[in-house]
Amino acid sequence: MFKNYYQGKKVFITGHTGFKGGWLSFWLKQLGAEVKGYALAPCTEPNFFNALGLEKEIQSEIGNIRDEAKLKKSIEDFKPEIIFHLAAQPLVRRSYLEPKLTFETNIMGTINLFEAVRQVKSVKTVINITSDKCYENKEWVYGYRENDPMGGYDPYSSSKGCAELVTASYRNSFFHPDDYGKKHTVALASVRAGNVIGGGDWSEDRLIPDCIKAFIKNETVIIRSPNATRPWELVLEPLSGYLWLGALLNEDPKKYSGGWNFGPADKDIWTVERVVSNICKIWKTGKYEIVLNTDLHEAKLLKLDVSKAHFYLKWHPVYHAEKAIEETVKWYQNYYEAPSNIKKYTLEQLKNYSLQAKSLNLIWTE
Ligand SMILES: NC(=O)c1ccc[n+]([C@@H]2O[C@H](COP(=O)([O-])OP(=O)(O)OC[C@H]3O[C@@H](n4cnc5c(N)ncnc54)[C@H](O)[C@@H]3O)[C@@H](O)[C@H]2O)c1
Repeated sequence: MFKNYYQGKKVFITGHTGFKGGWLSFWLKQLGAEVKGYALAPCTEPNFFNALGLEKEIQSEIGNIRDEAKLKKSIEDFKPEIIFHLAAQPLVRRSYLEPKLTFETNIMGTINLFEAVRQVKSVKTVINITSDKCYENKEWVYGYRENDPMGGYDPYSSSKGCAELVTASYRNSFFHPDDYGKKHTVALASVRAGNVIGGGDWSEDRLIPDCIKAFIKNETVIIRSPNATRPWELVLEPLSGYLWLGALLNEDPKKYSGGWNFGPADKDIWTVERVVSNICKIWKTGKYEIVLNTDLHEAKLLKLDVSKAHFYLKWHPVYHAEKAIEETVKWYQNYYEAPSNIKKYTLEQLKNYSLQAKSLNLIWTE
């Protein structure tokens, strides 16, 4: 898969103790990569990193992305070829409580990483994971395209819009695609995915973790914005896009540098209530209640236009929303039934996803 590009490659991941970074580390290990992660210690209990025993699979350094010297040393010591940057304060509601920390982590953390990349010559490819929330949200039904203006109402969204502007500035100033091979050897891209779901996320104020945490305690989950729509996608979908993009950036840095959206098909952009009612059906004993709460502003309509990834990367989602939700809920059911078997079950989900992608003849499976 991915043209066997990751076999034996040194890959550095920031945010490996988190939900997406954990899945990415796990997948890269299966692809034969040598992985080193840099992040804060897992901040929830349970968490994907410990549930999968990732500390035994990859090199892991606990450190703050805001600590420029430590981050640089960590990269310098490992000498990676590829970096995926996922470390961030990723929660909208927490960003209202801790705006300064959110901006410092998401913007200065990104700058610290790029400064290290300027100095560590082994690095050839950098993929910065931002968010679908980086766009100036016009609350309309159209999908945002990669060249739409950046924005962000709340501190989290704004920090991700800023991280995109910083990425564009570093690309123009230091890693310009036209100068590749002459003045530098770094290909830099940013990726914007939607609401990512999957097993192993226990974050606060996220819909699916909130449901699971309530159901485990036999409580009713409260939903505050039943009609908000989001581009829900299984975690493996954007990760397949990031991994494929990484392989292509290595082949043709000029063509593939830039920003990329990864999101589901239009019919998989569901309302919050539809997602929750599906989860309740699969969980069997799950119940929900709507208590409208608009104390903090959150986007209501959010959709990505994924034409660019479809056309140039030939990337397509593998699962529809029903299947993505089912896979997610089943992961948690398996975890709570037999936590010691969860690594095996996670591998099974990864294999089934890859087989389904292969049966759809997706190019990255060749
Ligand atoms: N989960 C989603 O739906 C979603 C959607 C769009 C974008 N994203 C982005 O994907 C990335 C990963 O998100 P996630 O859902 O896995 O979040 P997560 O909270 O599970 O993981 C965040 C990771 O960042 C690390 N981190 C946070 N602050 C840090 C700091 N100061 N120094 C070092 N490490 C720090 C944490 O330790 C953790 O490893 C983030 O950049 C997030 O903004 C996530």
